[in-house]
Amino acid sequence: MSTARVRLGVLVSGGGSNLQALLDACTREDFPAEVACVVSNVPTAHALERARAAGVPAVVVDHKAHASKAAFEAAILEALGAAGVQWVCLAGFMRLLSADFLGRFAGRVLNIHPSLLPSFPGLHAQRQALERGVKVAGCTVHFVDAGTDTGPIIGQAAVPVLPEDDEKSLSARILVEEHRLYPLAVRLAVTGQVTLDGVRTRVAAPPSTGELALRSPGATT
Ligand code: GRF
Repeated sequence: MSTARVRLGVLVSGGGSNLQALLDACTREDFPAEVACVVSNVPTAHALERARAAGVPAVVVDHKAHASKAAFEAAILEALGAAGVQWVCLAGFMRLLSADFLGRFAGRVLNIHPSLLPSFPGLHAQRQALERGVKVAGCTVHFVDAGTDTGPIIGQAAVPVLPEDDEKSLSARILVEEHRLYPLAVRLAVTGQVTLDGVRTRVAAPPSTGELALRSPGATT
């Protein structure tokens, strides 16, 4: 007998490659979640096509078409509610959510960010990393709080920064890890294996999913 899958709502603004990674994970029989709804604040986002191709309801809630942030968020909540969403995943969603919104899904909103937080929050994380001259970069999945990329960290994956890297090459290397890490973190979170402990999390990962902090081979000195 199979247990009911957790219903995810994925919020997007762009290409949606992380959405795709989640959609692909959800095709696996043993994955504990399904994408019930995708919401984009950008009407032209390619992520919408990815959702439709997977047979998932795709909704546009354009922030520009709403008079206030409260109205914008109310429209998103309506779409998520209509789809019976239980957990929310931000996947390249370029708007900040209010504490009010987050309170509606308390402890059930996740984000992926292309840096090893708390370094380089906000926009252009990969560019920030290159400009600062770090030798290791990566990505982070974290719970969302009302700050910018400040919530408790669930998992991280590291990649080397190579001498010849530019923003494009580093972003591509990080993205490969994002696509691996996000489904893994979602699996752990929605199955209750991640608990909050103040600003930290405790992750009770079984051995097969114990790779929440990777050290990539080939790192340069
Ligand atoms: C990813 O790098 C993600 O970490 C960041 O925005 C980018 C979105 O890419 N938040 P995609 O739309 O998932 O391809």
